[in-house]
Amino acid sequence: MNGHHAMPAGDRPGIGPPLWLLAELTYRCPLQCPYCSNPLDFAQTEQELTTEEWVRVLRQGREMGAAQLGFSGGEPLVRPDLPELIAEARQLGYYTNLITSGLGLTEAKVKAFRDAGLDHIQVSFQASDPELNNAVAGSRKAFDQKLAMARAVKEAGYPMVLNFVIHRHNIHQMGDIISLCERLGADYVELATCQYYGWAFQNREGLMPSKAQLQTAEAEVNAYRERLAESGSAMKLIFVTPDYYEERPKACMNGWGSLFLTVAPDGAALPCHSARLLPIEFPNVRESSLHSIWYDSPGFNHYRGDSWMPEPCRSCDEKDKDFGGCRCQAYLLTGNADNADPVCSKSPHHDRILAARKAADHATAGLEELTYRNANNSRLFFRG
Ligand code: FES
Repeated sequence: MNGHHAMPAGDRPGIGPPLWLLAELTYRCPLQCPYCSNPLDFAQTEQELTTEEWVRVLRQGREMGAAQLGFSGGEPLVRPDLPELIAEARQLGYYTNLITSGLGLTEAKVKAFRDAGLDHIQVSFQASDPELNNAVAGSRKAFDQKLAMARAVKEAGYPMVLNFVIHRHNIHQMGDIISLCERLGADYVELATCQYYGWAFQNREGLMPSKAQLQTAEAEVNAYRERLAESGSAMKLIFVTPDYYEERPKACMNGWGSLFLTVAPDGAALPCHSARLLPIEFPNVRESSLHSIWYDSPGFNHYRGDSWMPEPCRSCDEKDKDFGGCRCQAYLLTGNADNADPVCSKSPHHDRILAARKAADHATAGLEELTYRNANNSRLFFRG
């Protein structure tokens, strides 16, 4: 990493810089995954930022001390200026990561990205076999393309990082998924159980695994880990379990406005990728500098500190650890984002989580009953 900029004067005591910047370059995507965390009404989003506007955001972020930069979406490969943005980010000294479905990628592009200085590529899969993968992705050609691109990434000298979103329709494949990754020569495998925001919240009943499914999957992952260790494999398995089966909430985004700054395709600046759904006004990089957005905007200051907390968080001795959990989840499940995250067993709304667990035990819906993430469905939500 080159030229780390000195911290500019005027930064507020107690508020660190946004070390992690997420650039959601576009909401456009060739796939239709029903667990997408993009907003339901994404199709209504106004004009995407231009190349020049993104470059300005990247510069401002780096000046404030941002070090990690993720390119995501939607599918970031849809943007023809991606190589240019990667080169700019590299020049500024960011550590860059591309989060992609692999669709729209070619071997030539992988090489071009490497030459432009991209540090890391993560390819996402939907399942371990083409039928299920393509049914979840809503695309007939997705699986073969993903396989080819995972290999191309590795051949270009990158570590192979594969991501699988896990839900009730693929959780039984855990062993097959890991063995596919092993055959591909993956270095890191993220088995991330679905988190329920955006489209995934809309489809929660059809996606959430039952407790029994989850336990079987965990046992399978652990058994596989032992086998990998015995065979001397260096492949790392990261299993992210769903917080709907926890009794304490997670410290979402490491605390609101503490590390993460997301810029949405239209320039909306958000403390997390889901915050757009909250009834809070968020600033836009077209109108304000990243510095004033991060330190001074009411949107970012809204849930900093703990003076906003009602009971039971206010007097909880764990509030410095979990910050009351996830604001987006509190809002989605209770209608009030100030409330404790209902994942917490101390929350008066914890029954909503218990009800969701119970529903997951009895759910029978097939994939065809899910609402797929596409522009048509998005427009329906907007009207509704
Ligand atoms: Fe928005 Fe947790 S996802 S605060």
